[in-house]
Amino acid sequence: QWTAEEKAAITSVWAQVDAEANGQETLARVLIVFPWTQRYFSSFGDLSSAAAISGNAKVAAHGKKVLSALAGAVHHLDSIKHTLAKLSELHAETLHVDPQNFNLLGNCLVIVLARKLGAAFTPEVHAAWEKFLAVSCAALSKHYH
Ligand code: HEM
Repeated sequence: QWTAEEKAAITSVWAQVDAEANGQETLARVLIVFPWTQRYFSSFGDLSSAAAISGNAKVAAHGKKVLSALAGAVHHLDSIKHTLAKLSELHAETLHVDPQNFNLLGNCLVIVLARKLGAAFTPEVHAAWEKFLAVSCAALSKHYH
């Protein structure tokens, strides 16, 4: 399923990811760019402006959690479906998160990576990440039916 180049692109970029800072940035972008996603996070307090979202400690903590879960997928590229199965069940059965939202988070993560890596985020690296995120989003959507 993966070429050696794709695996290298995914793991070498991941080695530069800071789950805390980049997770905060990614989730904050989701909530700012796609404001209807805020409805899932009504327990997170003030999300009334971009500044409030960016300064919200619960958003930061949760962004870190999300990227740490994706780290599991990075480290198990050949069994992503299995690795994310429990989370798929949680988002579907308990949280009732529309699976379209996984793609929105993936979009925002790509932007965060592109900003962070600059020229090193080549089209080939970008392609590998789009594939990784598509596989991960499909795995998270597995439990919906
Ligand atoms: C909770 C991962 C996308 C909404 C969680 C948790 C993880 C996680 C690890 C914590 C589970 C636990 O406490 O046991 C992911 C991953 C995603 C993703 C890997 C995509 C790559 C999303 C999206 C939304 C969402 C796009 C909504 C727009 C939630 C909510 C919770 C949650 C509402 C519970 C938060 C709380 O009240 O603490 N997710 N998530 N997730 N996720 Fe996701």
